[in-house]
Amino acid sequence: MRASMKGVTLDAASSTATALFLLGQASDPAPEAGVTCPGALPAPNDPGLVARAQRAKAALGDRVVVLGHHYQRDDVIAFADVTGDSFKLARDAAANPRAEYVVFCGVHFMAESADILTGDHQQVVLPDLEAGCSMADLASLAQVERCWQHLEDLGVTGVVPVTYMNSTAAIKGFVGARGGIVCTSSNAERVLRWAFERGQRVLFLPDEHLGRNTAVLGLGMSRADCVVYDPNQPDGLTPAQLLEAKMILWRGHCSVHQRFSASGITEVRRLLPGIRVIAHPECRYEVVAEADEVGSTEAIIRAVEASPSGSAWAIATELNLVSRLAHQHPDKQIVFADRTVCYCSTMNRIDLPHLVLALETLAEGRAVNRITVDRTTAANARLALDRMLMLP
Ligand code: 13P
Ligand code: SF4
Repeated sequence: MRASMKGVTLDAASSTATALFLLGQASDPAPEAGVTCPGALPAPNDPGLVARAQRAKAALGDRVVVLGHHYQRDDVIAFADVTGDSFKLARDAAANPRAEYVVFCGVHFMAESADILTGDHQQVVLPDLEAGCSMADLASLAQVERCWQHLEDLGVTGVVPVTYMNSTAAIKGFVGARGGIVCTSSNAERVLRWAFERGQRVLFLPDEHLGRNTAVLGLGMSRADCVVYDPNQPDGLTPAQLLEAKMILWRGHCSVHQRFSASGITEVRRLLPGIRVIAHPECRYEVVAEADEVGSTEAIIRAVEASPSGSAWAIATELNLVSRLAHQHPDKQIVFADRTVCYCSTMNRIDLPHLVLALETLAEGRAVNRITVDRTTAANARLALDRMLMLP
């Protein structure tokens, strides 16, 4: 029997060893971010991992700042100096100029943004370089350049490009160089208003759901104002459709958030009458429209914290965050808004062994798994990030 994994074919006899190798330390043949993880990764069953991480972090002192996204595992979050959603972490990365090293416990596009926003004297480390993002993978620079050219050829003018934070530095650079801007899940509405003050329509990359949800539920557009551009079918929309559209949505999505369904929300309401539903805006329109509240990871945490004891919440976002909230609020009923569990597999790649490797090597003066963005890309991407960070 033969099995296939990310383009690699494995024989049954060797599949276990090879699969473990692929999951832990090998190179991924077609990644957004994945390359070989060099260095000796500590064994996951090493009972001294927590002590080793504590020792290395203490030795580094304020030379290091550890940033942790809310989707990280509990044992990694325990070492974070700052936790946040992607907007807050981008600001925090820029706000720590004294730290020589930024260890980013999150995914590749977040670490790239941190490298762009930090000084030349600072080094950003992503503990596992294979912690990419499947959504960011759905928009390559070549595809976006082709789309832009296609719009120009058809005479579709007045287009402001807006990219979600969850995109590569190359896409942020493309957008920045064309007068565009970055948004996150916490400021997408404000960013779209900014864009519509400057143009007639928006090319929204790479998450069609965040784009549609914000345009329709935030700005009051109709669903018909939004068209979906499929990079694999560049001629799929007629010139008339593109000329009439206000929002040209890139056909991209988050594999984790796309799992939530309107029927799942109906079911949870039937099982737990009176429960409040809060959804991340990367969920489909049908889910977000059914929810009582919509917000970034940080907004979800704030909503739960602000609710009185005895409240009940069904949460449509990644499971590490939902289960942490459930443990932190035993006086509230907190449930996952889907029938099946769903972690973000790439966020989960950052585990204690990788964090130990990152901290111990930094304590030895070596930055393993450093993230660097080339100067031209970084300068253009910075334009798009700064436009977002300067919004009131
Ligand atoms: P937040 O900015 O809301 O934390 O979202 C980041 C992310 O990757 C969600 O999938
Ligand atoms: Fe990417 Fe989705 Fe994971 Fe967020 S949850 S990092 S969008 S794959």
